[in-house]
Amino acid sequence: MSGTAAMGDAREDDAVRLQYETYPYPERDPADEARRLVVGSPSHLLEMNHYVFAGRRDFAAPFRALVAGGGTGDAAIMLAQQLADAGPGRVEGRVDYVDLSQASRAVAEARARARGLTNIAFHSLAIEDLPDSGLGPFDYVDCCGVLHHLADPAAGLRALAAVLADDGGMGLMLYGEYGRTGVYPVQDLLRRLGGDDPPAERVALARRLLADLPATNWLRRNPGLGDHLDGGDAGLYDLLLHPRDRAYRVMEVADLAAAAGLRLTAFVDPLRYDPEALVTDPRLRRRLAALPWIARCAAAEALAGNLRKHVFYLVKAGHPGPAVADPADGAAVPCWHQVDAAALVAGMGSGQPLSAQVDGLTLRAPLPPLAKAIAGRIDGHRPIAAIEAQVRDLNPALDAAAFARQFAELFRAFNGFGKLFLRVPPAP
Ligand SMILES: C[S@@+](CC[C@H](N)C(=O)[O-])C[C@H]1O[C@@H](n2cnc3c(N)ncnc32)[C@H](O)[C@@H]1O
Repeated sequence: MSGTAAMGDAREDDAVRLQYETYPYPERDPADEARRLVVGSPSHLLEMNHYVFAGRRDFAAPFRALVAGGGTGDAAIMLAQQLADAGPGRVEGRVDYVDLSQASRAVAEARARARGLTNIAFHSLAIEDLPDSGLGPFDYVDCCGVLHHLADPAAGLRALAAVLADDGGMGLMLYGEYGRTGVYPVQDLLRRLGGDDPPAERVALARRLLADLPATNWLRRNPGLGDHLDGGDAGLYDLLLHPRDRAYRVMEVADLAAAAGLRLTAFVDPLRYDPEALVTDPRLRRRLAALPWIARCAAAEALAGNLRKHVFYLVKAGHPGPAVADPADGAAVPCWHQVDAAALVAGMGSGQPLSAQVDGLTLRAPLPPLAKAIAGRIDGHRPIAAIEAQVRDLNPALDAAAFARQFAELFRAFNGFGKLFLRVPPAP
C-alpha cells in the first residue's frame, strides 16, 4: 500500500471512530429491555442452528459466540438472552462482544445489566486484532453490518475465520449493491458539501438535502430505503454520511468468503434469492433452474434489484458434513418462527399460494394440496415423521414419496420467507 493510501485509510479510520462515538448504532435505550427483546437476523438461535449446525446443536451444552463489531448490543443481547433461556440450570452459553466504540459498548453493557445477563464479556478491540487477542476459538461468529466499513474487509473476514472453530459457523450482513441504488451519489455530494464539518452540522445539512431532493433522484425513488431515513440521527448518519462503506453483489460475497477459506451455506430469506419466485415464463424458469445455486442467487438479485442487505451464513471450506438442516430428515422438528401459527393455519385456503410484500415486491410461493393438514401439525415438538404418519392416516392414498414432495413444497414456501426452521433433537 502506498503512503498516501495508508494515510487515507488512517484518516477514514478516525472518522469511523468519531461517527460511532458520536452516534452509537443503532440508537437503543437500555430502559426498553424491560418491555421487549430485539430479535433479528442473522444469529437468532433457531435460524443459526438451521443454517450452520444442520439443526443439531444443543444450546444447553457449552457454546461460545463472538459478536464482532457489536455496536449497541442487538446481537449480543439476543444471543446471550437466548443462550441463558436455553440452558437454565445447565452450562450457560457465553458471548464475547468486541467493538472499538466506547459509547456503543456503554449502551450494550447497560442493556445487559438491565436484563441481568451475566454471560457476556465486553472487549474494546479491533476485529483485525482478534487473531492475537487470545479469544476463541468460537462455535459461532456474528458480524452484522461491519465488514463493509473496514479498510480491508477481506482481512477482517480472515481475522474472524482465524478465531472460528473448525466445525463452527458465522452469520454476516453486508450491504447489497442494487438495493442501495441512490445512496452513493448522495453520500458523495454530502461529502463534497460539508465533509469536514462537525457531525451535528453534517446531519442538519443531510436533512436539508433530503427535504429538497428532486423527484427523479434515485434515493428519493428507492422505496426500500424509507425505514433508514426514519431511523433518527444515527440511522441517517449510517446511511448517508458514513466515512467509509461499500456494497456487495452476490458473486462478490461468494468471492469474499472463498478468499477467507469459507463457504456460503445460505442467503436469507431464501425466497428472495430464488429467481423462480420472480419470473413466470416457463422457458426462462427452466434456464434459471439449470444454473448452479450461487448463480441462481445472483440472478434473483439482478432481477429483483431490491436487495439492500445480504444476510448469509458461512462455514469453513473444509467443514465436515452438511451445515444446513434437511427437510427430508424425518427426525427433524419443524418450528415456526415469529408467526401466529394458529391464525396462519386458520386462514389457509386450498390452492392459495403463500405471498408477502418484501421491500416493494410481492413474492409468491406455491403451497401443496395438503398444506393446511401439514401446517396444522407443526408445533415445534412433533418430528416430520410423526406429522407424516398422522397426515397419511387421514389420506390413505398418499404414499411416502408424495408426502415428502408436499412437505418439501410447504417447507420451501415458509422457510423461504424465514418463517419455518428445523431442529434435530439429540437422540434419547
Ligand atoms: C453499523 S454498526 C453495527 C452494529 C451491530 N453489529 C448491529 O448490527 O447492530 C458498526 C459497528 O462496528 C464497529 N466497528 C467498526 N470498525 C471496527 C473494527 N475495525 N473493529 C471492531 N469494531 C468496529 C463500530 O464501532 C460500530 O459499532
